[in-house]
Amino acid sequence: MSNTSSTPAWVLFLDKPEKICLNGNMNSSDIRRRFLEFFKSRGHAIVPSSSLVPNDPTTLFTSAGMQPMVPYLLGKKHPSGLRIVNSQRCFRSQDIEEVGDNRHDTFFEMLGNWSFGDYFKKEQLAWMFEFLTKELGLDPYKLYVTVFCGNEIIPRDAESMILWKDLFKSVGIEAKDVEDSEAKGMQGGRIFYYGEKKNWWSREGSPKDMSVGEPGGPDSEMFYEFSDVVHNPTYGPYCHVNCDCGRYMEIGNNVFMEYIKNVDGSFSQLPAKNVDFGGGLERMVAATRNDPDIFNTDLSRPLIEFIEKTAEKKYEGADARSMRIIVDHVKAATMLIADGVLPSNKTQGYILRRLIRRAVRFGRILGIQEHFMEQISKRVSSLYRDVYPELPQKTDHIAMVLRDEETKFSATISRGLKEIEKLTELDGTSAFRLYESYGFPFELTEEIARERGQQIAYGEFKKAFEKHQEISRAGTEKKFGGHGLLLDTGELKAANEEELNTVTRLHTATHLLQAALRKVLGDEVRQMGSDITAERTRFDFSFERKVTKEELEQIEHIVNEVVQRDYTVEAKKMPYEEAIKTGALYVFSAKGGSASGGPKKYPEEVNVYSVYDLKSGEVFSREFCGGPHVKRTGEIGHFRIIKEESSSAGVRRIRGVVEN
Ligand code: ALA
Repeated sequence: MSNTSSTPAWVLFLDKPEKICLNGNMNSSDIRRRFLEFFKSRGHAIVPSSSLVPNDPTTLFTSAGMQPMVPYLLGKKHPSGLRIVNSQRCFRSQDIEEVGDNRHDTFFEMLGNWSFGDYFKKEQLAWMFEFLTKELGLDPYKLYVTVFCGNEIIPRDAESMILWKDLFKSVGIEAKDVEDSEAKGMQGGRIFYYGEKKNWWSREGSPKDMSVGEPGGPDSEMFYEFSDVVHNPTYGPYCHVNCDCGRYMEIGNNVFMEYIKNVDGSFSQLPAKNVDFGGGLERMVAATRNDPDIFNTDLSRPLIEFIEKTAEKKYEGADARSMRIIVDHVKAATMLIADGVLPSNKTQGYILRRLIRRAVRFGRILGIQEHFMEQISKRVSSLYRDVYPELPQKTDHIAMVLRDEETKFSATISRGLKEIEKLTELDGTSAFRLYESYGFPFELTEEIARERGQQIAYGEFKKAFEKHQEISRAGTEKKFGGHGLLLDTGELKAANEEELNTVTRLHTATHLLQAALRKVLGDEVRQMGSDITAERTRFDFSFERKVTKEELEQIEHIVNEVVQRDYTVEAKKMPYEEAIKTGALYVFSAKGGSASGGPKKYPEEVNVYSVYDLKSGEVFSREFCGGPHVKRTGEIGHFRIIKEESSSAGVRRIRGVVEN
């Protein structure tokens, strides 16, 4: 994936003589510019935003400005110095289902500044106070802050508390510090102590959740009060700054990154005391407008208005929720595609697919017909043109990807939704049927169920899925007179030695087929299913369109080349983590190892089959697999593709045979 913002766009952007509006009418460009200039004039180097897809296989998306800065927080020297500032595009997939209210989004810009062992709490808090009150002109009476109350190992942050007291005092406010506001309410306080759940920051959350070697530290957050929002007691008896009712909105977080987690669970000091500040741009705009709805800012409002016009509906009630979901998801999809992601059934591509399919569904709810996403996406490109100058060049590509995915899903969504209407009770089995027949991601059915006040457990869906696989297998068993040999992959069956020999050859051929498909069609291809009988292999894989005759010939040719060269086939047991690192292909599951999807659950130790050239050591294929396989590819015989067809939305199916 490319880092699309490697050009120093900020420099051009800063030099642009654009009118800066006064507080009350400040737009996102004004605030972004002011932030960068503020820190630039305090010795910070402005660096470009990194890609949304980090160069790190363990992380799906860039979800905070500090992510690209981790090596420097750990002690590496940053080429631009000890003081850095930027605006980083971020994506938080875990927030997908929160989107719809007035303050959650998955895509946002995070304004950030960093000190790598240079200045610390005193300068940071004073600058932030100055920035918020003088540059943005926020009323200091509407600002509230929090500090870390300490735990068994890390002391309470009394220093930040004193610094904040002095800062508020400088504008004539006696800031009272208060404990226990979660249980007792605001108590007339302005500075609030919270524990590690709220006032400790690391990429992995609380100190106990952090892995060894992860940096983290106590933080001090800043909140803006929307005094017109009345506390809603469903969020708790007392309102406090971290209450979710929406009266107080976090507009920035000063993390004092000075600790690193040790093997024994304790913490050591990092090589330096660092500052990591991050604040959501949209939220800062909302605060300057004194309007809690981030979708009313200039970064979203034009898109809402376009949807209002297209749908001939007003931005209010349930329709407002649908509009916000469409705006956020199309914006996020646009940015992800611009950063090189394509819809697929794995990792980042799967999340992109979810965003697009969700947007299509909410478009339907508003009564908008096909191909609205590309029109919104074009508007997104022009809204963000100044910050991401590469976007306009990519508009056509983005539009094409959105249109393709929309067309594909539209074909089945109406039928699927009709089907859902007929079902009074949604459960795991129906969720699985909707997935199989209409390409409904599990989460979509789950969400529709939730809207009806029903619940589907993911376990039930999985059970239905596995049951389906068992039935498929049972079918094969019958075919072989019930003496089927079930192999531990769950993929193969054979009635006798001779059949076992054939299915084993077909099994290795299937691995070669997958590797060849990926060589010819690209890495989007992943195994979605496999069924091997003594007659043929049937392989399902993620791919968007029909595979052409030429491509099929090429694929067949590559497989037969490897057969000809008589490559070695070898199994190796290794720890799961190590296997992942070898790049071995695994079966993808939407609810795998992480919240955002990943490999299906595998045991701690797994078996990896490699097909490689003994002479050069070049590996042709590597997969998690229980076997069995032939020892050398020469045993396979000639491989022939006999059919290529669609299996379900976004999934193709190939049948192939081996001939002696
Ligand atoms: N890294 C901190 C955050 O994302 C600033 O909130």
